[in-house]
Amino acid sequence: EKGGFEHFMLKEIYEQPRSILDNMRGRMVAEKDHLMMGGIREFENKFVNADRIIIVACGTSWHAGLVAEYLIEDLARIPVEVEYASEFRYRNPIVNERDIVIAISQSGETADTLAALELAKSKGATIFGICNVVGSSIARATDAGAYTHAGPEIGVASTKAFTAQVTVLTLIAMIIGSKRGTLENSKLRQLMVEMENIPAKVEECLKLDAQIQQIAAVFKDVTNFLYLGRGYNFPVALEGALKLKEISYIHAEGYPAAEMKHGPIALIDAQMPVVVIATKDSSYEKVVSNIQEVRARKGQVIAIVTQGDQVIPSMADYVIEIPETSEQLVPLLSVIPLQLLSYHIAVLRGCNVDQPRNLAKSVTVE
Ligand code: M6R
Repeated sequence: EKGGFEHFMLKEIYEQPRSILDNMRGRMVAEKDHLMMGGIREFENKFVNADRIIIVACGTSWHAGLVAEYLIEDLARIPVEVEYASEFRYRNPIVNERDIVIAISQSGETADTLAALELAKSKGATIFGICNVVGSSIARATDAGAYTHAGPEIGVASTKAFTAQVTVLTLIAMIIGSKRGTLENSKLRQLMVEMENIPAKVEECLKLDAQIQQIAAVFKDVTNFLYLGRGYNFPVALEGALKLKEISYIHAEGYPAAEMKHGPIALIDAQMPVVVIATKDSSYEKVVSNIQEVRARKGQVIAIVTQGDQVIPSMADYVIEIPETSEQLVPLLSVIPLQLLSYHIAVLRGCNVDQPRNLAKSVTVE
């Protein structure tokens, strides 16, 4: 059942090229200029005219929501708020009938997310669901939605569900952006073509496995990790840190790289590994400066860079190269080495990767 893999998590990491493809299937064909999603079509006017989109979710699904905030604001120019479902439901939030609330949940059974969407529904908002489990409680409670076609996810640490969610959310941002006229046709076409290249590029990222296993062996006994990223890679930094804590029990924090100087920089010394996602995008130069700040305090830098980067290899202790892609699509690639890093560290520490202590696959209690 694990298809020859030692753990479900590793199998699911390796299923991502396939799962991302399955999530585009029938929804997008670049060559034919076809971009369509059933659940959106019905509510197209609502989306196009929405004052605001509120995203509610927990954990990894919340991280996918953060990526969507960047995507939707960037491509569709609609203000987005991303909320922890557990906070949203208890703080008397301001929601009305012109708002669209997107609930993201792999299991579709997360109690806080379900309660948050019920609350928004009672205030008249349109509720859109992005769930992986067909017929789940959250899927049933929504007005419309789009399923992620990731297949069953068994490992408690979410991997392929995250990239499936990000794929679906990217398509949604592209659809709304093109309908609203905020996303130019030429840019849309370019994104569609590049989207179709993503599965093959994820496949390339998976080839980094052996290199990442070696890096994991170096750091398996540390007690802390810092993950930094900016822009589209900020949510990826949070996700990388969450993966590591969940399955290896190493304390890890994800931060927007520029926030480091407002506190976490005090933690950096020769014992602190810092994973920096430093791909060639609009914040590249600034992230390079952040790497220098870490180096100046003797922190050990593990950098995720774009293939062919000439600058960072001379500053970082370890460099992991991923293929180039459009800035908006980078999370689908940059998260892969972080999933593999946490996996190998956890295995080397002898942890129960698929069923980490104290955690359940669906959190049906608040
Ligand atoms: O099923 P959901 O997507 O609603 O679950 C939300 C979180 O419980 C979940 O993402 C959790 O953080 C994972 N264990 C992360 O790997």
